[in-house]
Amino acid sequence: MISHEPILWNDSYLTGIGRIDEQHKVLVNTLNEANARLSANVTRDLLEQITRDLLSYAIYHFETEEALMKDYDYAGLSAVEDEKHRNEHRSFSQQVVALREGLRDGRLVTREELLSFLNNWLVNHILNTDKQFGEFLISRGYRSPN
Ligand SMILES: [Fe+2]
Repeated sequence: MISHEPILWNDSYLTGIGRIDEQHKVLVNTLNEANARLSANVTRDLLEQITRDLLSYAIYHFETEEALMKDYDYAGLSAVEDEKHRNEHRSFSQQVVALREGLRDGRLVTREELLSFLNNWLVNHILNTDKQFGEFLISRGYRSPN
């Protein structure tokens, strides 16, 4: 069970795909920075800023992964996993959008609620779904473009 405490990066989070791992580290840092910024006080402006920045980086990151899914024909070779993975991305984005709509209507979330949700989602998604995708890419002969 992941709490709202900062995430300590460890190598069990590595997918083996450099580009994905670097972006995951950025996401972990973003959540840990949000944690620090929300320690002082929680205002609607701050929640809006944090969720906006996070959503835009998360969407960029999902696009990176989904471009790799397409390039390596994940849908053709692993249809169930491909769909499950894309659905998890979509569901995350929808939950953050719903949260932001709530903020606009004056429904704030607590630091604990926000960070527990974000930390849990990210760690579970990396450890299960992204690592499985990393193994798939490596089994298909993935080579880093750099
Ligand atoms: Fe993913």
